[in-house]
Amino acid sequence: MPNIPEKLVRRLAEAEKVVVLTGAGISAESGVPTFRGDDGLWKKFSPEELANFDAFMKNPQMVWEWYQYRRKIVEEVQPNPGHAALVELEKWVPSLVVITQNVDNLHQRAGSRHVIELHGNILRNRCLECGRIVTEKELDFSDGVPRCPHCGGMLRPDVVWFGEMLPEEALRQAYEAAETCDVFFSVGTSAVVYPAASLPEIAFQHGAFVVEVNPEPTPVTDFAHIVLRGKSGEILPELVAEIRKFKSENQQIP
Ligand code: OAD
Repeated sequence: MPNIPEKLVRRLAEAEKVVVLTGAGISAESGVPTFRGDDGLWKKFSPEELANFDAFMKNPQMVWEWYQYRRKIVEEVQPNPGHAALVELEKWVPSLVVITQNVDNLHQRAGSRHVIELHGNILRNRCLECGRIVTEKELDFSDGVPRCPHCGGMLRPDVVWFGEMLPEEALRQAYEAAETCDVFFSVGTSAVVYPAASLPEIAFQHGAFVVEVNPEPTPVTDFAHIVLRGKSGEILPELVAEIRKFKSENQQIP
C-alpha cells in the first residue's frame, strides 16, 4: 500500500473545499460488483438490453428483475472503511462534497452529509406518467411490472440509463463543486463515462490539486498530481489517519 505523501496531507490540511468523485470501485470492498472489471456487470450483462429506455419499454419485466437483483445486493451489504473514511474526513476539512456515480446509497448509509448523486439511486422508483417518486414499500410486483399507486402509470427505477440526461440540478452542483474546490479526489472510477468523467479534468483546469485513488490506471492518472495505487478501503482510512495526526500535532482538534 502506498504511503500518503506529506504534500497531500498539507494540501488537505490547508484546503477550504474538498470534493471526492466516487465510482463503483469504492463499493467493491462492500461486495457490490463494479461495471468494467473482470467480474464487472457489463462483462456478464448487456447494457443495451438492461440499461436504456428502449430496452425497458420492450421488456420492462426483465429490466425490473435485473434491478431487483441489484437492489437486493446493495440492501444486504454494508458500507466499508472507504465510505467511513470519507465520513470522518468531513470533520477535518471545512467543506467536503461527495459526488457519486454510484446508485447504491452506501455513502448516505455510512453517514456522509453532502452527497450529490449523478446517476440516481437504485432504492428510488419514479412514475413514467406523473413523475412521482415511489418508495420500495409501495412496489407491487404481482403483475410483473410495478405500477404507480397514485396514477397507475408504469414505474421505473430512478437511475440514469445510457443515452439519458443526468439530473440537471445534481450536475450543476457537481460542476460548481469541481470548479471551486482546492483538492479533488477521483476514487474507484474508471473515469470513462461522461459527463461525470469530465469532472476531474475540470477541477484540474480550475487549479485544484487532483488525487487519484485506484488500483488501476485511468485517464485521470495522466494529469493527477498524486496517484495512490490500491484499494480505497485501505488507502482512504490511511489518509484520514494522517490528517488526524497532522491536525492533532498542530492542535487543530475539532
Ligand atoms: P467501473 O466499473 O467502470 O470502474 C470501477 C473502477 O474501480 C475501476 O477503475 C477499478 O480499477 C476501480 N476499483 C476496483 N476495485 C477498487 C477498490 N477496491 N478501490 C478503489 N478502486 C477500485 O465503474 P464506474 O467508473 O463507477 O453508469 O462506472 C461509471 C458508470 O458506468 C456507472 O455509474 C454506470 C456504468 O455504466 C450508469 O449506470 C449510468
